Order: sequence, then structure tokens, then C-alpha cells
Amino acid sequence: MSTQGGTNETRSALFRTKTVEQSIRDTEEPGQRLRKSLSALDLTVFGVGVIIGTGIFVLTGQVAKENAGPATALAFVVSGIVCALAALCYAEFASTVPVAGSAYTFSYASLGELPAWIIGWDLILELALGAAVVAVGWSGYIQSFLSNAGWNMPAVLTGTHDGRFGFDVLACALILVLTGILVVGIKLSSMVTNVIVAVKIVVVLLVIVVGAFLITGSNYHPFVPPTQHPSGLKGFDAPLIQLMAGFTPGNFGVFGIFSAAAIVFFAFIGFDIVATAAEETLRPQRDVPRGILASLFICTLLYVAVSVVVTGMQKYTRLSVDAPLSDAFKATGHPFWSGVISFGAAVGLTSVCMILLLGQSRVFFAMSRDGLLPKAFSQIHPRFGTPYRTTILLGVVVAVVAGLTSISELANLVNIGTLAAFVVVAVGVIILRRTRPDLPRAFRTPLVPWVPVASVAASLWLMLNLTAETWLRFAIWMAAGFVIYFLYGIRHSRAGRGLPPAPEAPPRP
Ligand code: ALA
Repeated sequence: MSTQGGTNETRSALFRTKTVEQSIRDTEEPGQRLRKSLSALDLTVFGVGVIIGTGIFVLTGQVAKENAGPATALAFVVSGIVCALAALCYAEFASTVPVAGSAYTFSYASLGELPAWIIGWDLILELALGAAVVAVGWSGYIQSFLSNAGWNMPAVLTGTHDGRFGFDVLACALILVLTGILVVGIKLSSMVTNVIVAVKIVVVLLVIVVGAFLITGSNYHPFVPPTQHPSGLKGFDAPLIQLMAGFTPGNFGVFGIFSAAAIVFFAFIGFDIVATAAEETLRPQRDVPRGILASLFICTLLYVAVSVVVTGMQKYTRLSVDAPLSDAFKATGHPFWSGVISFGAAVGLTSVCMILLLGQSRVFFAMSRDGLLPKAFSQIHPRFGTPYRTTILLGVVVAVVAGLTSISELANLVNIGTLAAFVVVAVGVIILRRTRPDLPRAFRTPLVPWVPVASVAASLWLMLNLTAETWLRFAIWMAAGFVIYFLYGIRHSRAGRGLPPAPEAPPRP
């Protein structure tokens, strides 16, 4: 009898929700209030600043060479469609629940505490590993820039390559410097971001405009290379969907386009992070949806154009995997443009890294404010108005990870985590429409439930096109999250203790 009572209590704990009104009230508590200063334009710049990065600058070459050939442009279209569907759902949630935390907060208000915890845990994976991946990519561009100038760093300081251990000091240093900037305040961060984003857009446009004159038509044949079955590709290395469907694992062909789409998805990560800044936006109901949709649209156009140009400049089999955009210019006899692009790419990756770090600290902050993580992490700095403790703690951890890891499999892990968040958000839109039809929604997802259902299906499809190994790593990460929740979060949750938004300790003088 008592066991059954206990089971029911646990069940209601797992699905207890935090009301939307309570979420908004929490942001007004003394000592936990973030400064509101961002506009729709700031958010769009913020979005473009984080979206364009390693995905287009580094992964384009890799997927063209290994998965899709010139059809990489189609992979970007597929990925862009998946993101547009998710963006329509994100925009409704962000305009209804304008508080820090993104999908985490949205799911707390609609699905319940356990799904919210899962998604918050998932977002930490996305943002922390994403920042590490980008920092390593940045380090690669800087090293290539330095080596053009005749200065090569000692191998042991450039990270782990081909089984040889090393520590990537540049990647680590980048994360630490950016963490310092974020502690000082978001306004400074967005000012730095504006300059960097301008440089990055100019570089991308340069690739498109200058590169268009260097296209050789024969490079587009075959546009969709025929399927290949490399003998080394089996089991864990193969996309899960190919294993489930009983195919011999292979690259290229139509499946190759979808595998490529699941990988270049990394290039779109970031529009969802715009939603994490809702609490720092002056008019979130109007400006957050505008910021999300505008930045996604601009980036999709640029990606398709860049991939068409680059696969036209150089045969896909010869594209480089470390710096494909600048190397394509080198290969066509234009070292000057190659240098400019390398420099711009390195500058551009800086802003991506910074915004991923920012998003990560805000999710952690929101989870701590709700009692799912220790309270100390939601303390706001009295002078800078930033959650400095979370920013510093996570910054140091990411700096170490960036120093020790390499790019490829990590990017896929980031993708699967983000796609899982998309699924939860889309389901949340449908649930919240039913449970809280009364809430004002400045932006409404069209054709509910069909658009959210299509978003769930599209996100799951891309997830299935990731490798079995990526799924295994993701399962391990999520299992660790469950352990932490059941050991800590379930007992310390403010919603669980029936606490109203309690006054917190005032900020220290
Ligand atoms: N979308 C970001 C990038 O491409 C994360 O680097």
C-alpha cells in the first residue's frame, strides 16, 4: 500500500510543472535578475554570430568529400528545412515563456520536471561540447594562418592527432579569454559580437562572389555520386538507419545526402540559442521570434550558396577537410584570398564560441535557480549583472575539454543532443496549446499540430542518420543525467518543495 503511494508520489514529482507565470516571476527576484537590453536586431546579429561557424567553414569539405559530393548543397537544404520546422516551434515557445533557459524552461512549463531536466542536461551537452568543437576548429585556422607565415607550433601544443597525445593550448586559451569577457557583461559581449559578425559575413560573401568566377562546370559531375561501400565502414561507424534497414553500410548516393544533412546540421546550431537570451530582451514577445527566424533564413541562403561555389571550384574528392574554403582558393591559384578567408574564419569562429558559452551558462543558471542544480550557481554578480559562478565553472571545464579533444565525433554528439531538444520543444508546443490555451502568444506556430508533428518526424529522421556510435555516447550521457537527477534534483527542486518564488539572498555588496 505504502509502496504504491510512494510510486504515485514519484510519478507526480517527475511530471510536476512550473507554471509559465511562476517562470516569469522567478526572473524578477532580487539577486537573480538579468539586465534587459537586447533588441530584435541584436538578437539577429547574435543568431548569425553563433550560427555561421565550424559547420560551414570546416564540415562542408568533410561531408562533400566523404558523404555527398556536390550534393552537399542539398544536404544544407534538408538540414535547413528541419531547422525551419523546429524554429517555428521554438518561436512560439520563446514568445510565450520569455525566460532564460531555452528548451529547458519551455519544457518545464509544459511537459514536467523530468523531461525538463533531461532537456536541460541535453542542452549542456550541446552548448559545452559545441563550444569545445568550435574552439578546436578556431585553433586549426590560427595554426594554418601561422604556418603560412612560417611559424609552426610544437606538435604537443596543438592537441591530440592520429593517436598521438597533445594539448591544444590555443583552443584552451580562447575559451578562458571568452569566459572572462562574458563575466564582465552581455552588453560588452554583443558589442564585440557585432564587429566579429560583420567580418564573418564579409568573408562568407567573398567566398560566394569571388569563388563564383572560379567555378569549373565539370566539377559538378556527378552531382550525386553513386553509393560506395568502403570495407572499413561497418557496425558502429554506420548511420543507425542503414543498420536498422539491413543495408550494407555505405557513403554517397541518396542516403549520403541524408547522412551529410545530419552532420552539417551542426552548421545551423545556434538559432535555438537566441531563445536563451529572451530574459535579457527588452520586448521578448515580439523580438525573439523575429530574431530566430531572420537569423535562420539568412544563414540557410548563405550555406547553400557557399557549398555550391566551393564544390564547383574544386573536385569534391580533392577538397580539404581542415580548411576547405580557404584551401579551395589556394588550389585555384589565389593565395591572397585564401589568407583573407583563413583570417576571417578564425575571427568568425571566435563569436560562435563565445555565444555557445553564453547559452550554456544561462541554461545552467536556470536549472540552478529552479533547485535542480546547487543554488550557488544562480548567484548574479552585483556589479556586472551576470551569472558569474556558472560562467567561470563551465568555462574552465570546457577549456580543458577543448584542450584535450578533436572535432569529428564530438560534433555528431552535439547534433544528436540538439535534435533531441527539438523533439521535446515540438511536443511541448502541442501540449501547451491544450493545457494552457489562454496564454498570450505573440507568435503562433502555424498549422498545429501538423507543423510540430512534422518537426518531430524530421528531427528523428536526422538523428537516425547519425552513427550507432553517436547514439551510444548519447545514451551514456543521458544515463549520467538520470543518476544526478535522482540523487539531487528530485529532492532539491523548488517546484517539488512547494515553494513559492522565495526571496533569495541579496547580492553581496
Ligand atoms: N552553427 C555553429 C557552427 O557552425 C555551431 O559552428
